[in-house]
Amino acid sequence: MSPDASGAARIVIAIDGPAASGKSSTAQWVASVLGFRHVDSGALYRAATAAAVRSGAAPAEWTEDLVLRVAANVTLSPRSTSFAPCIEGVDVESEIRGAEVTRHVSRVAQMPRVRTWVNSLVQQAATRHDIVVDGRDMGTTVFPKATLKVFLIADPWERARRRLTQQIGRRPTEAEIAEETDRLVHRDAQDATQTVQAKDAVLIDTTYLTQPEQVERIVALAKAVTQRGSDTSPVDDHAS
Ligand code: C5P
Repeated sequence: MSPDASGAARIVIAIDGPAASGKSSTAQWVASVLGFRHVDSGALYRAATAAAVRSGAAPAEWTEDLVLRVAANVTLSPRSTSFAPCIEGVDVESEIRGAEVTRHVSRVAQMPRVRTWVNSLVQQAATRHDIVVDGRDMGTTVFPKATLKVFLIADPWERARRRLTQQIGRRPTEAEIAEETDRLVHRDAQDATQTVQAKDAVLIDTTYLTQPEQVERIVALAKAVTQRGSDTSPVDDHAS
């Protein structure tokens, strides 16, 4: 566990997995059950992308320097059980979920110095709070010694069905699910290099699980691990 300014140890639960595997909503729920804060690392990549969109530069011309310059206005503002992604201090949660940001975010996330910037913001959050953090590489690069690591997977069709149901608020048609499945499989391919299952992660296939069941499993794992105790740092010296 990592010491905070007061010397107390912090707990990190890292939940990784591909797009629309239910990481963020599950992580948020687990955090509120445990009284921890949820950190959504993908929201930072999205906020940096939204800031680049706002800059007015054509996406083909986005350089790493441009993205880093506009990302300087991105912060994580603490809420009761999570952090709000902000640009110039204003919550951008709904802006970062739009189609344009989703289309360009994978390319921004491949910029090495952007990854370093996200990783350091996420690590800072973990020095002040017990956290449940979700992303692609939280259990490998960012918190190699996390208290608990979980890797969530689900069948692409089921991920597409869930995502659409959440977005459009009704039962999606087969054609809509097929189209969304194509988009997800494409993003999986773009994100493949940074989506890594840690060797010591617990793999949970959520295809046939309800969300309460997923949350219950992770909370039970977290309770088992934290009761066992740990005196190692979830952030190692070489994390970038
Ligand atoms: O989790 P979400 O789908 O919102 O993440 C948006 C994008 O941010 C992903 O498609 C991926 O390109 C990137 N990402 C990443 N590493 C993380 C979290 C997200 O590369 N830890």
